[in-house]
Amino acid sequence: MKLPETQVAVLEAASADDPTPVERIAEETGEQAQAVAGAAFELEEQGLLAVTERTEADLVLTQEGEQYAFEGLPEHSLWVGALSGGADEEPMELGKAIGPAGLQGEQVDIALSNFARKGMGTIDSGTITVDPEFDPDSDSESDLLKRLQDEAVDPDEVDEELVAALERRGLVEVEESTVREVALTDEGVTAMMEGVDVAETVGQVTPELLTSGEWEEVEFAEYNVQADAETVHGGKPHALREMSERVKDVLVGMGFQEMQGPHVDADFFINDCLFMPQDHPARNHWDRFALEEPAQMDRENLPPDLVDRVEAAHRDGVGPDGEGYHSPWDEDFARALALRGHTTNLSVRHLAGLAEGDLEPPQRYFSIEKAYRNDTLDSTHLLEFFQIEGWVMAEDLSVRDLMGTFTEFYEQFGITDVQFKPHYNPYTEPSFELFGRHPETGELIEIGNSGIFRPEMLEPLGVEADVMAWGLALERLFMLATGAEDIRDVHGTLVDLDFLRNEEVVY
Ligand code: PHE
Repeated sequence: MKLPETQVAVLEAASADDPTPVERIAEETGEQAQAVAGAAFELEEQGLLAVTERTEADLVLTQEGEQYAFEGLPEHSLWVGALSGGADEEPMELGKAIGPAGLQGEQVDIALSNFARKGMGTIDSGTITVDPEFDPDSDSESDLLKRLQDEAVDPDEVDEELVAALERRGLVEVEESTVREVALTDEGVTAMMEGVDVAETVGQVTPELLTSGEWEEVEFAEYNVQADAETVHGGKPHALREMSERVKDVLVGMGFQEMQGPHVDADFFINDCLFMPQDHPARNHWDRFALEEPAQMDRENLPPDLVDRVEAAHRDGVGPDGEGYHSPWDEDFARALALRGHTTNLSVRHLAGLAEGDLEPPQRYFSIEKAYRNDTLDSTHLLEFFQIEGWVMAEDLSVRDLMGTFTEFYEQFGITDVQFKPHYNPYTEPSFELFGRHPETGELIEIGNSGIFRPEMLEPLGVEADVMAWGLALERLFMLATGAEDIRDVHGTLVDLDFLRNEEVVY
């Protein structure tokens, strides 16, 4: 009997009494697992082989599990941190133990609750005491995490409660896979005894085969259209990009035009033109990403009249009963360059007539561009985010116009329960923060900040009409609209590729 090469290899590797996994045959023969499975199905059709399938469950680490298997569990870090500070002798302030333990953000809560659950010591009204007898090396949870670093484990072999506890912590998960095994049938055994040879098969018709007439002699390989094939993930726009395009469509539909402008700008445009006092806490080194080289914008790039008017507003306010900050104002300080912490510098440049020339009301502008902040990373914060900046200039605007605009905007994304909270910005009065409820966690999350620009900001820019404005976070809208719970799954270095492959932003 003559058969194609892979089929012969599979028959040779299979036996009659002991089912052989397809994966093993693939390893032994150096063929792709899919090619072996394809050959096995063909042999099954010819009655030479029996193919059986079963599902196998493996316990594997999640991404977070891998991190803790490597770094150690947060509660262990807390125990070590507190022990090294002497918390086995006398109670220690919790804050003092957390710092040396290197715990950040959510890890602190994780550490505290597991520390208590495992009886590693006591936590009482802000102080911590550790049990020096606790032995981190005999913690079954971290043992299992370490074991899973090296091998997948059958969940049935491990203590059920231990698996459940680690599953609840999101550190392990059960992964199911299909195992295919093959065994020779009686017919297969007979065929092998009689001898099976490799038939010469041709996978592709060539001009030579046709012209020489050789095509009549050869056997053509058959296509098995049912064989497993590798999943090919085609390229597609990133889900956040799709969301941004969708937001653009909505805003353009509401009559807005798009603004563009520099990512790096002088503090003058980022802050001073917004009536932000030069000693405002958000202007310190910590919150902003300053440029070292060049460190300042050249003086000739700041319009001198505008500088004078902004300085006057900072010192004395505007109008006959104006109140300024009565504090020093320094042009050099205003010329410092930084990555913009918000995209309101673009609004300023447009309102001041520096982008599109002088603008007469009514006007509506927006941008969806990156802003940069030195935040602590967590499920809702990254070092950069896309801000949906927008403003409307008109003769008479009120809070109702502002709220109505948001209601109309968010409704397009199925978000109908936006909540407003009074807020303070140096440049708006009144000001409102916007909140929305996360569809999965039920938490209220901040989605934006808004208000009506103050005269102290508008007069120096030369704007006589009213202007209402806002900065909304595209990522937060994305989370509310898609149910994503951790922004780090969506962009940054830890993205969840499966989520991005499968998420469709369609409305
Ligand atoms: N700049 C504000 C922020 O980043 C958003 C905002 C813009 C608020 C315009 C009011 C007016 O939070």
